[in-house]
Amino acid sequence: MRAVLVIALAAFSAFAPQAAAQDENRRRLAGELTVMAGDLRRLEAAAESPLRLEGLRARLAGALASLPLLLRQAASDATAVPAMRDAFARHDWQSLGTRLRELRDKHPFDAGSLVPGRPTSAWLRAGEALHRQTCAGCHDAPAVDTQLPALNLFEQARQMPREEFAARLLLGVRGDRSTAYRNPFSDLELAALQAYYEQGRADAVPAPQR
Ligand code: HEC
Repeated sequence: MRAVLVIALAAFSAFAPQAAAQDENRRRLAGELTVMAGDLRRLEAAAESPLRLEGLRARLAGALASLPLLLRQAASDATAVPAMRDAFARHDWQSLGTRLRELRDKHPFDAGSLVPGRPTSAWLRAGEALHRQTCAGCHDAPAVDTQLPALNLFEQARQMPREEFAARLLLGVRGDRSTAYRNPFSDLELAALQAYYEQGRADAVPAPQR
């Protein structure tokens, strides 16, 4: 009886990290699809400066380039991607949007543990401390007009659905290509950040330049 338990536990502990990594891969894929859909919406709305629209197009192109890898890591197939790239090359946002929706239906983003239920003041303080220490240096400086500036995160949190912001937090806090570190935060810390951006004092930071 005891031996069986030991074997079962050994099998479980060998399996668990792999399963967790697989779940994380699926979550990253679903988050990336959510961010892509949000970027596509901004492109279609065309309400930002030409420079930023160019930045969004570049980011979407990059996302389409690495999508087959993400799909593979999440044990899914990448057959839909070539047609998406074609649509992108033709600037056919409608067709790209349709295909993206189909993929998102297959890989829905579950923001569950990332969005705070009813945050306590301790959560907000934790979010504030994290923000001050690790994000404010870049995100609270008035945005210079580059293709992809570090935007005001309070504004961002208010401008989009919660799930989309949670996906952007999950994927955005990953450094850029030059650093490429993985997200160093736990779900709880990300939820504290989200709570702070949703409820924190937006007037405490300078408004970004458009
Ligand atoms: C070294 C500067 C720097 C630091 C530090 C930094 N960011 Fe960023 N962040 C950027 C830049 C630049 C971008 C824009 C790049 C892009 O959108 O691809 C960005 C993008 C993002 C995005 C994604 C925006 C989107 O449109 O998807 C989120 C969310 C984000 N950062 C949150 C954070 C949070 C939260 C922290 C702190 C935990 C943080 N960042 C720390 C520079 C920084």
